[in-house]
Amino acid sequence: MDVDVFTLFPAWFDWFRGQRHVANAVALGHTFECLDYRATTPLKAGKVDDVPFGGGAGMLLRVDVVDAALRARYALDPVQLPSQRRVIALVPGGRLLDEALAGELAAEPALTLLCGRYEGFDERIVEHFCSDAVSIGRYVLAGGELAAMVVCDTVLRKLPGALGHEESAAEESFSSVLEGAPEYPHYTRPADWRGWTVPEVLLSGHHERIRQWRRAQSRARDEGPSLP
Ligand code: ADE
Repeated sequence: MDVDVFTLFPAWFDWFRGQRHVANAVALGHTFECLDYRATTPLKAGKVDDVPFGGGAGMLLRVDVVDAALRARYALDPVQLPSQRRVIALVPGGRLLDEALAGELAAEPALTLLCGRYEGFDERIVEHFCSDAVSIGRYVLAGGELAAMVVCDTVLRKLPGALGHEESAAEESFSSVLEGAPEYPHYTRPADWRGWTVPEVLLSGHHERIRQWRRAQSRARDEGPSLP
């Protein structure tokens, strides 16, 4: 998979690129690149934003700036881009990211993520250049960068080999193996800590009983939170 992230803060992603699953994905031949809107802006002095028509607080990323950035990267009119790859605008009001959307995106050969800043995007960017508008939750971040990292984190970890241990991504929370339910609880050594003991079945070595116990725990968690 080829992932391109357009941002005003490419250096933020240096840390992200160093994370194990991202580095593993890149070592496996996938790409993760960040493009700076300022590097290709047609405006003077690196300008990329402007005040909203009609008034209001904050600044918007300009459509001509994003047009130039996409054109420079893909050598085509960016209205053609969504027919070639998923182009995702990160916006608080977009489609909520969940495991189903992450799975859908992980099956794509190429993704483009557009981070907004300030008050967000000129709407024509979303309307004409994007296939998707995605939100990581109904709250407003200062920009799309952290949201892009969240999307890339959950998508890249699904790529075969990215985690380095294959079964982990298969039987986990919200996976089809667990019929979309949250994952069962896990325990490790010590088996007894301050009198808090590990469920006996997990120490039994009885694989079928363990499997049944885990399924039951997973289903119970699906019915409601285990903590108040
Ligand atoms: N940009 C600002 N807030 C956001 C959010 N909650 N999700 C995605 N992109 C955003």
